[in-house]
Amino acid sequence: MQAEIGTNIQHAVELLQKEQLVAIPTETVYGLAGNALSSTAVTHIFKAKNRPSFDPLIVHTSSIDRIANFAFFESERLQKLAKAFCPGPITFILPKKTNVPDLVTSGHPTVGVRIPNHPITLKLLEQLDFPVAAPSANPFGFTSPTSAQHVANQLGNQIPYILDGGSANVGVESTIVEDTPNGLQVLRLGGLSIEDIEKCIEEPVVSIKTSSSTPHAPGMLSSHYNPGTPVQLIQSPLEAEAYSSKKIGYIAFSQNPNLSFIENVAILSASGSTTEAAQHLFATLRAFGQLNLDLILVEPAPDKGLGTAINDRLKRASATRKTEET
Ligand code: TXA
Ligand code: MG
Repeated sequence: MQAEIGTNIQHAVELLQKEQLVAIPTETVYGLAGNALSSTAVTHIFKAKNRPSFDPLIVHTSSIDRIANFAFFESERLQKLAKAFCPGPITFILPKKTNVPDLVTSGHPTVGVRIPNHPITLKLLEQLDFPVAAPSANPFGFTSPTSAQHVANQLGNQIPYILDGGSANVGVESTIVEDTPNGLQVLRLGGLSIEDIEKCIEEPVVSIKTSSSTPHAPGMLSSHYNPGTPVQLIQSPLEAEAYSSKKIGYIAFSQNPNLSFIENVAILSASGSTTEAAQHLFATLRAFGQLNLDLILVEPAPDKGLGTAINDRLKRASATRKTEET
């Protein structure tokens, strides 16, 4: 099987109704979608991604009203966020209803729910009478796809159809939040900034889980986003000298390091925008992964706006992979 890439929403609807998988565009990254209420379809998702069954999936729907079909959406804090940011790059952890198979949530009593902000996918979801489970459309442990072609390169032989919605314009996955008696917890930094969240709920978030604080919580495996070449975070271009005997790619945040021994340089945002840098991050890592480099050096982003999510991804891309997490 080699996936067809196209824009035929009706074809995608029919495949999903037959419990088959379709890659779908979202504003964050492309997702690998299947009927969230069908154990058969969900099993296909885990298989195609080679994803361990302990890592739960996010369920996508087209409107706030539809969430009640499969989850309890009662938290006032989360409703406030939904009103402000949905559709958008935020995922809510909610108590699940019984029609959501345990496979989707890896046995947890909660389910991740998101309304993606992409016109094609919203149209698709409106035409379905079930929500879709959709993890990022990459093999487990590898960089998330931000274009239809990225999906075709990595999962093209596993699925029949890729719905093409152009390049993802946020570029990092959704921010995952959960309400607790103590306040709002952020389980994954992502496309909606902490600043925007706090402004909306008019209080500070009570905790932010990062790759280093909870390496084994769901969704927070320390090694992830592997581009196929070792990635090393550096704080300043001066540190690059130590690697000058190697074939190096250098991903700068906003300024060219101008070092003669570096083979390839990419700049994530010449204007220093963390939003623009997030858009380019995964495509750049992926492109550098194909250059047969010995090492990819990368500078962290400033810790504000989407910079915190970028740095979280970079830490994980540079973490040593453990055999049990392949
Ligand atoms: O932007 C996104 O969220 C993209 C697009 C396709 O929507 N999806 C995505 O899915 O990033 P995935 O599967 O690559 O990451 C979802 C993360 C997982 O790592 C999982 O552990 C966490 O969400 N998650 C899902 N359900 C959860 C739950 N009930 N409790 C805690 N974490 C959960
Ligand atoms: Mg993923």
